[in-house]
Amino acid sequence: MFCEELFLSDEYKTIEYANFLADSLVKTASEHSRALIVYLDGDLGAGKTTFVRGVLRSLGYTGAVKSPTYTLLEEYNFSGRLCIYHFDLYRFTSPQEWEEAGFDEVLTSPAICFIEWPHQAEGYVSRPDLTIALSVHDNGRMCRITAQSDVGKKIIALWKK
Ligand SMILES: Nc1ncnc2c1ncn2[C@@H]1O[C@H](COP(=O)(O)OP(=O)(O)OP(=O)(O)O)[C@@H](O)[C@H]1O
Ligand SMILES: [Mg+2]
Repeated sequence: MFCEELFLSDEYKTIEYANFLADSLVKTASEHSRALIVYLDGDLGAGKTTFVRGVLRSLGYTGAVKSPTYTLLEEYNFSGRLCIYHFDLYRFTSPQEWEEAGFDEVLTSPAICFIEWPHQAEGYVSRPDLTIALSVHDNGRMCRITAQSDVGKKIIALWKK
């Protein structure tokens, strides 16, 4: 029940799915006093950033959305209403970099925090509420979403309504 798997046949399906999920994420984030943590698992090119782009589009953001491979963090502020943090930890050379960068302190609430390559900060970064795992399958992507906290379960239950 708290793990869902679906096939996304092309990039537009990824965006569409992210759009569906965005409503439940945003609603849940607005009710919590801490940032929601969403891990994005998958190899290079699996579609992790595409998913974040889908969420940002559904919030009305029309600008460019690139993987913050060099900047590590990209922040999108929706006029004090909600913050989206997009991390890409691919270039971390050790997990302590999370702490050294002061990343826990930059997280305000309400917020949704998407983290690509979260295992690069293992032991430092918060445990996830949700994990979205993407993998190449035929010409599309398999997407598995798993709830890893009560808040994560609530998000999936809301989305399935
Ligand atoms: N469901 C899908 N089916 C086919 N192609 C897709 C799908 N979703 C995304 N893509 C394509 O996959 C490519 C890589 O996407 P993206 O940059 O989002 O990957 P990523 O996982 O963030 O990679 P990286 O780890 O390098 O940051 C893009 O060309 C995108 O259009
Ligand atoms: Mg990326």
